Amino acid sequence: NRLVLLISGRGSNLQSILNACQSGQISSTEIVCVISNRAEAPGLAVAIQAGIPTQVIAHRDYASREDFDAALRRSIDAHHPDLVVLAGFMRQLTAAFVSHYLGRMVNIHPSLLPAFPGLHTHARALEKGVCWHGATVHFVTPELDAGPIIVQAAVPVLATDDPASLAARVLEAEHQIYPQALAAILSGRCRLEAGRVHWSTPL
Ligand code: GRF
Repeated sequence: NRLVLLISGRGSNLQSILNACQSGQISSTEIVCVISNRAEAPGLAVAIQAGIPTQVIAHRDYASREDFDAALRRSIDAHHPDLVVLAGFMRQLTAAFVSHYLGRMVNIHPSLLPAFPGLHTHARALEKGVCWHGATVHFVTPELDAGPIIVQAAVPVLATDDPASLAARVLEAEHQIYPQALAAILSGRCRLEAGRVHWSTPL
């Protein structure tokens, strides 16, 4: 299997997926390219360190979302991936782009969707006073953070939490569930079918 990962930042999910490919948790799979929309994304160094080809497609270089997405699509498709993995990729994608990869593109979001789509999820969870928070892996559909859910992990919210401590607890869960979800999809156990997630054997 061939994966293309899209990142914008730190790259800790990239690292966890890379580890899973190397350990065999995700079997027979190669990350063929890591693409960032920001040249300064620290995650690029994670990829380079691992010998993975990287590419920067800076959204600022394009006049419109459509132009940026078209360039992104050309680059991704040149690598013939089986799956496109958004790993901390912080740009909204156009419906045309998303439709092209329907069932072949997944995202991880730092909340228990459908709660807290969008940004600043940890601060918003604390503000609401929820007792449980977490992370969600989902297939990407045109509506932001609303695609069919593949795997979730919940973590407790502690009285002493601030957004940073809560984010760190959620991030550990992300590093568990993203490789699990990718392994399930790439082995054919889980797929998107008629707008729903279908499991041949449960996780
Ligand atoms: C993660 O919390 C992810 O859920 C969110 O952005 C963060 C990316 O972290 N979308 P990293 O770049 O993978 O370390």
